[in-house]
Amino acid sequence: MRTEMPQVIQLSDYQAPSYWVDETSLCVQIFDEYTDVQARLKMRANSDRPTGSPIVLQGVDLTLQALSIDGVAVANYEVQGEDLIIPAPAATTFEVQSRVRIYPRTNTSLEGLYVSGGMYCTQCEAEGFRKITYYPDRPDVLSVFTTRIEAPKSFKTLLSNGNPVASGELDADRHMAEWHDPFPKPSYLFALVAGDLVDVRDTFVTCTGRTIDLRIYVEPHNRHKTAFALSSLKKSMTWDETVYGREYDLDIFMIVAVDHFNMGAMENKGLNIFNSACVLADPETTTDDGFERIEAIVAHEYFHNWSGNRVTCRDWFQLSLKEGFTVFRDAEFTADTHARAVKRMDDVTLLRTSQFAEDAGPMAHPVRPSSYIEINNFYTLTVYEKGAEVVRMLHSLLGADRFRQATDLYFDRFDGQAVTTDDFVTCMADVSGLDLTQFKRWYDQAGTPRLKVEGHYNAAQQTFSLMFEQFCPATPGQPEKLPFHMPVKLGLMGKHSGAELMFSTDHPGYDATLQTFSLRKANDTLVLRGVTEDAVPSLLRDFSAPVVLSYPYTVEDLRHLVRHDSNAFNRWDAMQTLATRVLLSAVRGAAEADGLKTVLTDAVRDVLVDDTLDHAVKARLLRLPSQAYLAEQYTPVDPVALDKVHTDIRRDLGQSLAAEWQVLYGQTQPEAAYVFEHQQVARRALHRVALSYLIAGDHTAWHLAAELYQQADNMTDQSAALQLWGEVANEAWDEAMNGFYQRWQDDAQMAEQWLSIRATVPRIRVPEIRRLTEHPGFSWTNPNRVRSVIGGFAMRNPVAFHADQGAGYRFLADAIIQLNSLNPQIAARLCTPFTYWRRYTPEIQDAMQTELQRIVAVEALSKDVYEVVSKSLV
Ligand code: ARG
Ligand code: ZN
Repeated sequence: MRTEMPQVIQLSDYQAPSYWVDETSLCVQIFDEYTDVQARLKMRANSDRPTGSPIVLQGVDLTLQALSIDGVAVANYEVQGEDLIIPAPAATTFEVQSRVRIYPRTNTSLEGLYVSGGMYCTQCEAEGFRKITYYPDRPDVLSVFTTRIEAPKSFKTLLSNGNPVASGELDADRHMAEWHDPFPKPSYLFALVAGDLVDVRDTFVTCTGRTIDLRIYVEPHNRHKTAFALSSLKKSMTWDETVYGREYDLDIFMIVAVDHFNMGAMENKGLNIFNSACVLADPETTTDDGFERIEAIVAHEYFHNWSGNRVTCRDWFQLSLKEGFTVFRDAEFTADTHARAVKRMDDVTLLRTSQFAEDAGPMAHPVRPSSYIEINNFYTLTVYEKGAEVVRMLHSLLGADRFRQATDLYFDRFDGQAVTTDDFVTCMADVSGLDLTQFKRWYDQAGTPRLKVEGHYNAAQQTFSLMFEQFCPATPGQPEKLPFHMPVKLGLMGKHSGAELMFSTDHPGYDATLQTFSLRKANDTLVLRGVTEDAVPSLLRDFSAPVVLSYPYTVEDLRHLVRHDSNAFNRWDAMQTLATRVLLSAVRGAAEADGLKTVLTDAVRDVLVDDTLDHAVKARLLRLPSQAYLAEQYTPVDPVALDKVHTDIRRDLGQSLAAEWQVLYGQTQPEAAYVFEHQQVARRALHRVALSYLIAGDHTAWHLAAELYQQADNMTDQSAALQLWGEVANEAWDEAMNGFYQRWQDDAQMAEQWLSIRATVPRIRVPEIRRLTEHPGFSWTNPNRVRSVIGGFAMRNPVAFHADQGAGYRFLADAIIQLNSLNPQIAARLCTPFTYWRRYTPEIQDAMQTELQRIVAVEALSKDVYEVVSKSLV
């Protein structure tokens, strides 16, 4: 048990810093066993703050060797927790000089300066810079950095932010490089790399004709995996110029790939550092999903140069200011680059499956949280994905043109500053004249709102009335909620004609151009006039607000929408609603379950034989909602029973439509060599869906998967084939897997892929998973390997995780306890499955609670794990 309770940080306690740091000069000397960091901070008292305040610098795991102000040694400092407190100097401007020693080689937290493979690299967001030197490590202190790196010559590449200004030899064995970044930035955007790397180069000419030097630095054996990221980068640069008018500002933009990384990637100014899994790609080893993900992450980090770096966050409560906005930007980039409706389906699926779960669990927090213990625990789906939905709603409410004017105003007004989500919304309000006071509740209130709608057609008056009611369930610390300002995009589909119906309304909340109703009250009625026939309303089109919608649709209504809705997203959504209803009625053992299954079969057949549908859309229409999604829809969840229903219905669909699946499988055979482009990607997705139903319907169809695995010219088909084949236990699969490992063990991305396939095979049990953690391909200090094996088993393999009376829970808790001392961030992430313990049947609740108790009793529990586990137990 922790001896002292960790401190809770409150938004309401925010105070501007007492001192600014105008200039920061670092000299980082890398030696074999340790690294010395000398810092010179040109500080200036903040005239808005009381004079005589002490200087407060943060530092963690630093050995202080010297400290002086303006050359005079300081002895009367105090250390309190992470703070180093120095009495106020007499002058209002002065230089703080320090020298510390750090030990990057033993830094397994992957925060601050650490070693990955043979290279030194950094991760400073959110509060990692304090592991490098003593510093006011807060995002509202912006400083111009000059960084000198000294290292053995074996580290050929020495990089930091900004522009290279000097380099040279120090002696026979050591050399140096110096970098200068003219843009003031907070310490979380600092980066440094020292390694034996190769760079692949390209250039980009900006809209004003400046030529930017683009470089991707990788270990030599990864040189062939850089082309895709480079071309994604150039696309992103063009898109940000066209859509947001944002031009790149430095003369050089660098990306470095590292194998050990806690998250996906990091937007350090001019020097993005990427998890190698999120940047390295080639057609032989990367799947279609992988390409799309890499393209989106490259874009995301690049877009941060404006939304995050030029305009940054005042404090970490404002994290969504940069993350929600940047996720919205990267989602729009992907939508513009590939298929808009399909991208929306995928994003909404993630939101509904995982963010809604977070919002309904013990870690629920607003998009702008108001307190935290460990900020790293708040890099969440709520801050990122729901935050992006909030920005999307602003985009819907303003329309594209005014939204662009508002972002222009935002970048202009706040360039070089650290600001808040309120500042962002104020720009939206200033440009549009809209009153967004109520809208801001999206930033403050946690929980997923429920939107209940009923409809009534009056033939005599030709009106269709929609009665809206909204409410939001309680979340930790927020028992009562106020109504949200919700944009509800809608239309009416004629019951008889199947056509989109015209209407008018005098409700001031309806915007006819945007086809969107702004619901502001808890209850409201929208009367639509001139409606010539009864209708099935199509509501919340394109998922115009992140809410749970309910409307008393009959199954016929839903099928009508699947067939006729003019909004592609809502056609898919109607199919999801229908399938969910069928699956859940079977879970409940309801009387109507059998009848409903027939309806589902008919609906699936309709889609299957529809040749007019885009393949990507069709694949998504045919896929059943996942078990994780269904587990969100009811309680108490019995995962084994849920798996049985899911499996049974997939088998039934596989069998009753066997002929159709076979035809589809045949029609979607490859016609040309692999390329990552929409038509092919869509075809492969549909091919996979057909194969999965064929195998679900008849296990002997595994030989199709085996064939696909052997014949495919790409990793998309190969890995899908291995996964589907893995659902059917047989020796040939084991052999194929062994062959895969032999072939690819030296390729990090492939080894991770292999571990993940093994860990997600439904029949795997704890003894084999434990053995997998002893496999040479596994490593407790490599987050990607941990995510593949432990994450795969506990988060993407429900049948296996919940099997054998809690054996899986014990295994996960053991893993969390082990990781707690190595890498607290990763340990805390792995606690997620336990946070949902209250949703399950009583036996599961008991077993999970026991494990949570065991974890919370651990000595030296990190803040990260403590926060998640203790909040879960409340
Ligand atoms: N800002 C990064 C991104 O969104 C995420 C880095 C977060 N890292 C962390 N350790 N909390 O691209
Ligand atoms: Zn980001």
